[in-house]
Amino acid sequence: MEIQEIKLEELDPKKFIEEKVAELREIIGKNRAINALSGGVDSSVVTMLAHRAIGDRLETYFIENGLMREGEPTNVVNTFKKLGVKVELVDAKKEFFEALKSIEDPEIKREAITQTFYKRVFGKIVKDSGIKFLLQGTNYTDIEETVAKIKRQHNVLEQLGINTEKEFGYKVIEPIIQLRKPAVRKIAKYLGLPKSIYARPPFPGPALAARIIGEVTPERVEIVRKATNIVEEELQGIKAFQCLAILHSDKVTGLRSGKREFGLQVEVRCWDSVDAKTATPTKIPYNILFRLASRLTSEVQGVVSVTYNIATKPPSTIEAV
Ligand code: XMP
Repeated sequence: MEIQEIKLEELDPKKFIEEKVAELREIIGKNRAINALSGGVDSSVVTMLAHRAIGDRLETYFIENGLMREGEPTNVVNTFKKLGVKVELVDAKKEFFEALKSIEDPEIKREAITQTFYKRVFGKIVKDSGIKFLLQGTNYTDIEETVAKIKRQHNVLEQLGINTEKEFGYKVIEPIIQLRKPAVRKIAKYLGLPKSIYARPPFPGPALAARIIGEVTPERVEIVRKATNIVEEELQGIKAFQCLAILHSDKVTGLRSGKREFGLQVEVRCWDSVDAKTATPTKIPYNILFRLASRLTSEVQGVVSVTYNIATKPPSTIEAV
């Protein structure tokens, strides 16, 4: 199937929303539909469109994988509650940490997260519900990257020749497949979603696990979570595409209170980019970097070294895993 992109400059948000809502009503009819919400702009737009189309016959789940940022699961659920959309929070931390145990290789780590999400957790919820329509926030770039074999986006199925009705027993509906991110953000704003969602900086599917080099354990996630909080707080005034904290696996010798401390290293990355395909490190004033280092080494237990990445993408990538 050839998918026709709707370019940002051609997009009429009112018309797009009306058409998609009508289309969803027609496809789903009097049945129920199901989707997973991550709080990202794509899944948020899909949730709002489907809610407008079928109201309470939409069942939306937020899968708490234990890898999200501080407070994110409850913030997302509460944001949608205010918009009149009920979201079921599913605690799947145990399943994800079990699947990630002892894995160090980046690709195997990603695969473990995808498999746990689709097979063990959300896949099971879909199966048990008996619902035949699954909504997904696949966008135009996901398709392009997957078909070009740049990056296997976990939500791309049909375009790889997978017949979901035959293989999994449900039909996948992808309302924003013709849009790229800026167009999705425009629709999100038009749908009345808050700025925290329509202007949300990109955040990877594997969440904080994409920022942990080596094994992903609850303790190591907690370190990255705290570091992320500090980085996001300190750099909120900086105009950048994305800022993040990475936990390295190797330790280094440090010195605290006159004693040797063989401690952790956190790397800070902050990027200027338009589309994430290429990126350059943001020029952050030294005083801000120093404050960042001071907070990271004093507030995140065990951190004795903080570095700032100065390599471009390529050959680097934005995330570390
Ligand atoms: P990379 O690390 O490939 O990231 O330069 C490009 C952009 O995509 C965001 N992003 C992801 N990155 N796996 C990733 O590696 C994912 O599943 C994913 N989802 C989103 C990333 O944060 C960056 O903006």
